[in-house]
Amino acid sequence: MFLNILVVLTIIYLLYKFSIRNFDYWEKRGVLFPKPLPFIGNVFDLLTGRIGIGHLLAEFYNNYKTPYFGIFVFNKPYLVLRDLELIKNVLVKDFNYFPDHTVFCDEKLDSLASKVLFIAKSPEWKFLRSKMSQAFSAGKIKNMFPLVSTVAKEMNLYVTKNQNSNFIEAKELCAKYATEVVATCAFGINSNCFENEDAEFRVIGRKLFSAEVTNTIRQVAYFFAHGLVKLFKLPFFDPDCVRFIREMIHSTIENREKTGFKRNDVIDIIIQIRNKSSPQDAYKFDGDRLVAQAGQFYTAGFETVSTTMSFALYEICLQQDIQDRIRSEIKDSLIKYGELTYEGIQEMKYLDMVVCETLRKYPVLAFLDRLCVQDYKIPDSGLVIEKGTPVYIPMFGLHYDPQYFPDPDKFEPQRFSDENRNKLPSYAYIPFGEGPRICLGERLGLVVSKLGLCYLLSQFEVVRCTETPVPIIFETKGIILASTVGLPLKFRKSPVITT
Ligand code: HEM
Repeated sequence: MFLNILVVLTIIYLLYKFSIRNFDYWEKRGVLFPKPLPFIGNVFDLLTGRIGIGHLLAEFYNNYKTPYFGIFVFNKPYLVLRDLELIKNVLVKDFNYFPDHTVFCDEKLDSLASKVLFIAKSPEWKFLRSKMSQAFSAGKIKNMFPLVSTVAKEMNLYVTKNQNSNFIEAKELCAKYATEVVATCAFGINSNCFENEDAEFRVIGRKLFSAEVTNTIRQVAYFFAHGLVKLFKLPFFDPDCVRFIREMIHSTIENREKTGFKRNDVIDIIIQIRNKSSPQDAYKFDGDRLVAQAGQFYTAGFETVSTTMSFALYEICLQQDIQDRIRSEIKDSLIKYGELTYEGIQEMKYLDMVVCETLRKYPVLAFLDRLCVQDYKIPDSGLVIEKGTPVYIPMFGLHYDPQYFPDPDKFEPQRFSDENRNKLPSYAYIPFGEGPRICLGERLGLVVSKLGLCYLLSQFEVVRCTETPVPIIFETKGIILASTVGLPLKFRKSPVITT
């Protein structure tokens, strides 16, 4: 009996010692860090669900005034950057030392995910990025504009039908719109999201980004606990969703090739890229590599756009003067062009300020991450970031830092007037990331979000209702920023132009 207890205590002691073996890492290098706990390091609050990763990093950011500080995720040392010049070096100037995200990437465990741009590692990432950049050119996006407008009109019909209910959940409304946009622009499919609450496209979308335990475990493991991914052979995406996306893309491509039908959409662009491939290319652009490029429009496209649009609607409903000003800008554009056009949307300065402020207060991804792939000496400092060290940039911390954004909790589009924008230090505002790995869909995301907002506000006033959460309580699980109860709002018919 005594021997058994001794064995158990010895094992616990050894595990404890093993879990804290790295905890002098930052101290030895003269880097400040919050006191870590055995086994979990500095992510206790994340694991208990008290706070999400973006807010946790922001709390640390606020506790230090140094250019960088260390943290421990479980027992692994991570470096977190605060200084804007250093952030620029990592994202842009010395990108070659930091070319990859930290997300686990292994072709054998998840063939499709490993080829999605956000996850792919260099040199394959470089090959895919150069191929896919052409799909996001201004010309291609302009070609898609009529397709997006058709979906926006459907959204307004849906709101008209449902305006008498107690409220419409804005995140779900915008997710229907963004899913339908992706379905039509990327795959030439009518996903029926507005007619059918259980449309397959939307069900898959909900499943991909739900805060279900299995999803949360997968995401946390891929970002922070690569050992768990290997141990349990976890796929990044839900296998049912992957099956659906793979089958849909293959059958659409097959159908296009059989019929010769062309639609100027993403599938057409991807077929063109494949057909133009050369045998000298370092990688073959086919199979899962091709499916992943089309699929990422779906995975990267709809949650980002719907999050941005719905938080903008939320803020607009709380500040009538801001809403009035956008509606007046929409009215001017409608008078000038007769309808909402690509050019008209680009000219709307105040709308742009509102969307920028939305992305400051509600950055869809609350932090950026890079993996150091060769030892890097920080200029004018004794610290060498060792190969293999994950580096985090706490977007929330920067976007709520009062030295860059005074009274940061206030929603204030004026921060992004031409005059104020010029005064804003570079790299203090980075909702789309920066450098060679900047969001590939920035232009598309902005056009789709702005057009959706314009269509809604051209016909409806957005009003707070008793269910609208003030203040918002943020979901603590998952990587994408979300409100725990969604964003219930009321839409009241009020066209900006009455005929
Ligand atoms: C308002 C909407 C959006 C926001 C706020 C957003 C934000 C971001 C951010 C922060 C990153 C990481 C950048 C970095 O690490 O430096 C990213 C990457 C990416 N985004 Fe977006 N995004 C949006 C819309 C879209 C859309 C509509 C698409 C495509 C349909 C898209 C495709 C991508 C891709 C492919 C990457 C990975 C790029 C790479 O690693 O080379 N995004 N996005």
